[in-house]
Amino acid sequence: MTTGIRPPAMVGAYPNYATAAVKARGNGYNDKDVAQVNTGLMRKTVVWDYPVIHWINEVFSEGMHLLDAGGHFGSKYIAFRDLCPIDRLQWTVYDLPVTVDLARAAQESQELPAEIVFQDDLAKVGQIDVLLGSGLMQYLDISLAELIGKLDAPPRYILLNKVATRCGPTVVTLEKVGPGRVPYQIRNRNDFEKNLTEMGYVIRDQWDIPSLGRIISTHPGLGPSVSRGYFLERREQARTIGSPDRHRSSTGPPVSRRANAPIQPGAGSK
Ligand SMILES: C[S@@+](CC[C@H](N)C(=O)[O-])C[C@H]1O[C@@H](n2cnc3c(N)ncnc32)[C@H](O)[C@@H]1O
Repeated sequence: MTTGIRPPAMVGAYPNYATAAVKARGNGYNDKDVAQVNTGLMRKTVVWDYPVIHWINEVFSEGMHLLDAGGHFGSKYIAFRDLCPIDRLQWTVYDLPVTVDLARAAQESQELPAEIVFQDDLAKVGQIDVLLGSGLMQYLDISLAELIGKLDAPPRYILLNKVATRCGPTVVTLEKVGPGRVPYQIRNRNDFEKNLTEMGYVIRDQWDIPSLGRIISTHPGLGPSVSRGYFLERREQARTIGSPDRHRSSTGPPVSRRANAPIQPGAGSK
């Protein structure tokens, strides 16, 4: 029976992903009906994509390999393709097996660009320069360090967007996505940023996305989450940033420019 009342977007508050996953009682995003929700919406360029587009352009180098983890059906490749030199970089989407199978089938019927490589096994991705995780961290069932540990080598740059954070302890709620509910992790900000530092990265840039703050209907007292974006660079390579190609003069050598001072974890963001 339909009541016309929309179910709340977020319900429940659990201390960790595993407990929430049991309550969700499904396969989370690894389900063909869940995977295909909001496909059209995710292909649009939205205001919070612009810091990511900026940093991709800033670090761009010819043939750069970008791994778009949680890249869905290449939604950000499609959203960014007129705003980045996408045809001059290698774009690999890493996602869950159901999504990757659907995406490969869509490529065969020419519904998705043939240039995107879809992969559900991080061990087969090879060396990457940039890890993009846009809208991934909320849903990821492992830590970012574990994800990176499955790669051949840690990338020089990491771009994270739409990371759900809060001041209090990490909480995992259940988000309504189409017919299912999927665990949605809201991380303690300080712990998360400390982990990034411990992984050997400096936070080069950070931004908040006020419109993506979420309140858990069943636990309003926990307050709204704060959605954040991060641009990270590996500490040992973080002396200069620049894109040799963008700054190269037609005759002279590549020019790189000095990076801004790294942002301290938990420091005020802009
Ligand atoms: C909200 S969508 C984000 C899509 C797109 N990147 C964007 O920013 O709009 C989350 C994506 O993360 C993927 N995902 C969830 N858990 C994952 C995991 N453990 N490994 C890889 N991808 C995962 C989902 O399948 C889905 O494609």
